[in-house]
Amino acid sequence: MSNNKMLQKKGFKLGTFASNCSSGMTVTKVPERWNNSWENNLRLAKMLDSAGIDFMLPIARWIGYGGETDFHSGVLETMTWAAGILANTQNLTAFATIHTTANNPVVIAKQIATIDQIGGGRAGLNIVAGWNKPEYEALGLSLPDDHETRYGYAQEWYDVIQKLWSSKEHFDWDGKFFQLKGLKGDPAPVNGSVPVLNAAGSPQGREFATDNANFLFTPAIDLARSVDEIKELKGLASKKGKDLGVLTFSHVICRETEAEAREFLKYTAEDNADWEAVDNLVRLQFAHAHSFPHDLLEQIRNLMAAGHGGFPLIGTPEQVAERIVSLHNAGFSGTTLSFVDYAEEFPYFRDNVLPLLEQAGIRDNVKEPEMA
Ligand SMILES: Cc1cc2nc3c(=O)[nH]c(=O)nc-3n(C[C@H](O)[C@H](O)[C@H](O)COP(=O)(O)O)c2cc1C
Repeated sequence: MSNNKMLQKKGFKLGTFASNCSSGMTVTKVPERWNNSWENNLRLAKMLDSAGIDFMLPIARWIGYGGETDFHSGVLETMTWAAGILANTQNLTAFATIHTTANNPVVIAKQIATIDQIGGGRAGLNIVAGWNKPEYEALGLSLPDDHETRYGYAQEWYDVIQKLWSSKEHFDWDGKFFQLKGLKGDPAPVNGSVPVLNAAGSPQGREFATDNANFLFTPAIDLARSVDEIKELKGLASKKGKDLGVLTFSHVICRETEAEAREFLKYTAEDNADWEAVDNLVRLQFAHAHSFPHDLLEQIRNLMAAGHGGFPLIGTPEQVAERIVSLHNAGFSGTTLSFVDYAEEFPYFRDNVLPLLEQAGIRDNVKEPEMA
């Protein structure tokens, strides 16, 4: 069995999302908002690893969203972040999140193979085909308006990487976007490849994901819609002979009483939300991306402030566990978790929610022995 947890079939997957970003997933001005220093990421990673959490997923971001906090202006780069996480953990999968157009595939093939050796086969790759126009302008790149070109480029980019990982010989590449001479990829990842994520919302992106990814990420705004969406995605993948898992992202405020949890939600995401940044986020999503269904975007301004549109897990440990079980029952294979202060709030979740998920039978007793 692969030692990469994202390639193991057992249990509902749990990970964290965006701990490499300033303020994490909460667009708030409160002083308790997440400080994404390396020191805090390391402290968090070690706790997650020994609690049996499956993965950590970073966001790749090059400029912030403005507002008083300039939300996501302070971001640790994800390949180097993942290398550090893998060097300091034993069990979890750490993903690098990579923008195809900003990164040469020959370089990325080698970087992923290198961090995979550092982690003994525990690296992963989240492929971003691009959507955030101001960010592309900051990088001096032009974002193609049409999704065909964005995902056509992403496909050739990933084809180059796969060929580098599988070919034992030098080869030339003469494609539409890349002309490369005398290439060879050495080393390949420990197990030949790594788990691939993609979070496309558009039809073109979903073709790309079902062709290439082990997991597709999609928001869970309305679980009745999610049931149909997951069926459709899995159906599309299985027609291609693929087994695709569908993941979502959730935001946790877990407290002894529901009233306490709701009060903290109001404090962080209503009374002290950075609304200017929230509105910039929503505007950019409308303009360039299909990550959130556009007919639902207007309704989720509050969810954007609380957890970047993540599924709310707000309440007592029992209520939070019940909501996670509802994601499982809708057909999701796992979810990421975010917290206002990940490292301070995760231990309460670990001690009070994880046992309930084991009791519900959706996670094994996942705590693994320390490696020598
Ligand atoms: C869970 C999740 C993670 C994502 N991570 C990033 C990221 O780190 N950086 C980024 O620029 N876009 C990120 N995206 C955006 C997607 O990669 C994708 O471009 C977006 O959902 C638009 O979909 P579309 O290209 O099909 O329109 C993420 C989206 C989701 C839902």
